[in-house]
Amino acid sequence: MQDKLIIFDTTLRDGEQSPGASMTKDEKLRIAKALEKMHVDIIEAGFPIASPGDFEAVKSVSELITESTVCGLARALNKDIDCAAEALKPAKSFRIHTFLATSPIHMREKLRMDPEQVIENAVKAVKRAGKYTDNIEFSPEDAGRSEFDFLCRVIEAVINAGATTINIPDTVGYNLPQYFGELVGKLIENIPNSDKAVFSVHCHNDLGLAVGNSLAAVLNGARQVECTINGLGERAGNAALEEVVMTVRTRKDVFTCDTKLDTRQIVHCSRLVSTITGFPVQPNKAIVGANAFAHESGIHQDGVLKSRETYEIMRAEDVGWNANRMVLGKHSGRNAFRTRLEELGISFEKEEELNAVFSQFKELADKKHEVYDDDLQALVSDSIQGNADERIKLISLKVGTETGIKPKARVTLSIDGEQKHADAEGGGPVDATYKAIESMVRSGCNLQLYSVNNITDGTDSQGEVTVRIDKGGRIVNGLGSDTDIVIASAKAYINALNKVLGHNERAHPQQV
Ligand code: KIV
Ligand code: ZN
Repeated sequence: MQDKLIIFDTTLRDGEQSPGASMTKDEKLRIAKALEKMHVDIIEAGFPIASPGDFEAVKSVSELITESTVCGLARALNKDIDCAAEALKPAKSFRIHTFLATSPIHMREKLRMDPEQVIENAVKAVKRAGKYTDNIEFSPEDAGRSEFDFLCRVIEAVINAGATTINIPDTVGYNLPQYFGELVGKLIENIPNSDKAVFSVHCHNDLGLAVGNSLAAVLNGARQVECTINGLGERAGNAALEEVVMTVRTRKDVFTCDTKLDTRQIVHCSRLVSTITGFPVQPNKAIVGANAFAHESGIHQDGVLKSRETYEIMRAEDVGWNANRMVLGKHSGRNAFRTRLEELGISFEKEEELNAVFSQFKELADKKHEVYDDDLQALVSDSIQGNADERIKLISLKVGTETGIKPKARVTLSIDGEQKHADAEGGGPVDATYKAIESMVRSGCNLQLYSVNNITDGTDSQGEVTVRIDKGGRIVNGLGSDTDIVIASAKAYINALNKVLGHNERAHPQQV
């Protein structure tokens, strides 16, 4: 009998802490639905006390999700725990995740607490969470740099107070697989009541070792891994869910546990998170990168044709490549369109919303013969962004390019309901367009990144543009897609500007 490895996805919480990756409530719901469909055990939906928007998002995920446990993060403070419990109340099954730092540097410099106060506050927090649920996770933040004997004392005390999952975070990504694995193994061995809790790990990727450290811990007895789709997360990110899950599944000869994930959903989830957050997946990324299963060299191709195991250790279809590529075209009706969206986990509360996306689909199908799932995802993202109560909307765009002549753009925008237009010249049509937009909006933002990717193959593919802008240190990403990449570029820039202008302050969990 194999042990179960619990998959705790924190894309919606730690993933959202990546600079520029903030998501709207609707976007979080779409991701939560996709995670549930993949059979993720626990979805950490957010940090409810951070802002009213975060509270609402966790509450809505709790209302929507029935198959996975929904989790909310709370610092070791009564107000955080009460707020998390309130947001999670509608969930069929929920967990409160509370944390407090235990490393000397965090206790001294950040918390300004002595070790005894830390133990006392951690125990109090777990007991407070116990007023609401038996499903309580405690994380000694920065466990990876904490003193072993102190860590044992804290963990023993919180288990006695009712914690059922003990998460060992390598908060700053400092650990190495061999040592981190040993640390987890020794904790389980030395803490007298360790059998009363599931041991979990949460590794950051600052040295590129998040997946390696997580797997080393699993080999030493951890039975929950906290991870994110595409490895999204604070700074260099978290352990990538797809890599953890596929390693354990592929190396059954080494691991004595397995997850219950439907791995065929992995590529879909990866695309969805990338489209929503505007964080592209690098082509050579394991499992979900465009080249992960591509065989360029002649020798490899020959080998794979003779016997695929010569160069492939996993089957592309087992992680969802080529699956779900049903095609819709200009003759597809509303019902086929709705059904396909539902299969992709997308549904609309109002019929008008579906109608608006359907008419955009028809326009796209006129320009492009075959509309794939990835096109639909981009279309829905675009439409949701366009519908939000945004201050700036693109009304029209005209560009002129000709060899030997400076490109020109004329852009008409609606800004706070008032129509304005501007002309500009630039180094290229995108530059001219951005200059025209900026002359009207005067945001003063700094463009940090501009990139275009094709969503599907072929020259009739939609281009998906990602921009990253920075205003006074705050970074936001914007996304736009269209078969015309200048229009996609304008949409992406406007999307980012709307996020900057509509910004609501939110607290960061790791700030006290
Ligand atoms: O990295 C970290 O320590 C965290 C905790 C809140 C678990 O994200
Ligand atoms: Zn983290």
